[in-house]
Amino acid sequence: MIEQAAQILKTGGLVAFPTETVYGLGANGLDAQACKKIYEAKGRPSDNPLILHIAQLDALSEIVREIPDTAKKLIDAFWPGPLTLIFPKADIVPDAVTGGLDTVAVRFPSHPVAMALIQAAGLPIAAPSANASGKPSPTRASHVAYDLDGRVDMILDGGAAEWGLESTIVDVSQNPPMILRPGAITKEMMEPFVGTIAIDPAILDKPTEGLRPKAPGMKYTHYSPKADVYLVRGIQTIEAINRLAAQQQAQGKKVGVLATEESKAKYQADIVLSVGSRADLESVGANLFRVLRKFDFLEADVVYAEVFPLEGEGLAIMNRLQKSAGYRYIEADSV
Ligand code: TXA
Ligand code: MG
Repeated sequence: MIEQAAQILKTGGLVAFPTETVYGLGANGLDAQACKKIYEAKGRPSDNPLILHIAQLDALSEIVREIPDTAKKLIDAFWPGPLTLIFPKADIVPDAVTGGLDTVAVRFPSHPVAMALIQAAGLPIAAPSANASGKPSPTRASHVAYDLDGRVDMILDGGAAEWGLESTIVDVSQNPPMILRPGAITKEMMEPFVGTIAIDPAILDKPTEGLRPKAPGMKYTHYSPKADVYLVRGIQTIEAINRLAAQQQAQGKKVGVLATEESKAKYQADIVLSVGSRADLESVGANLFRVLRKFDFLEADVVYAEVFPLEGEGLAIMNRLQKSAGYRYIEADSV
């Protein structure tokens, strides 16, 4: 299976494969034509650059011009794993990967299937998340098949993704380093190794002309189910959501609630899905995209979602959830 998949990559085809974060849609990262197929298959804007995936450290020096000290420390501490670093790119990396930028994003995934595939191909593998552009990232092989069926040469099934949210992206070409996309590896986890880390201020706000995210992909609408998603915050969240749900149902709408293990029994709506436990935010990260996809599958018209802390592990969750809601908040007190 791995050998066959590696052969497809070596000859310019597309292979979807599991990683510990989400499923990736892989192509030969040194072949501009193969990379263009990724953009076509996903319907992805061509100015949104791809991450190169490697499976041995030696491969890094071939694709980057320089490895800053902060990068070395983060690599020692967190690779292989859910951390992507931004480097000055080497000439060998095609513009089709970087969207014309002078930098390249690199990640060394820890998933055994991803590692085996990249090693067998003997190439850096360009791989965005294997979803149709705009949809939640796939955390199961079945999500990939649903979005990209017929547009990918092979899908490797590695079961459910462990983390369920895409990797943390850190730009190590600047000082202090800056988080461009929050993920499983948090600011708090990295700072003991490299000192203060900045966070791109655009991470938690609606992108505007004045507030342009530094990772080009972060400016696009994303993670959006077909339903209208609203985030509800405040002390009386449960009461407010139940009231809103009743109003929508009276208008004939099918209402979903994105709840937690702690709250799910307290809601009255058409579809109540628990995304995990507040006491274990990793479980929320692991389930978020699957639950957003399930609201689509069950044809919810409106989804009301609880919110999570805007720090630590909650930051990555809220970054994705805000995008899926188009940054629409409802204050529970005003319902
Ligand atoms: O966990 C992950 O990172 C997954 C798995 C498959 O590895 N991949 C993934 O790729 O999430 P994608 O393409 O969905 O997201 C890549 C993000 C985009 O927001 C893109 O704009 C940003 O990385 N990016 C890529 N190259 C960059 C660069 N040179 N500078 C700044 N941002 C960059
Ligand atoms: Mg993506």
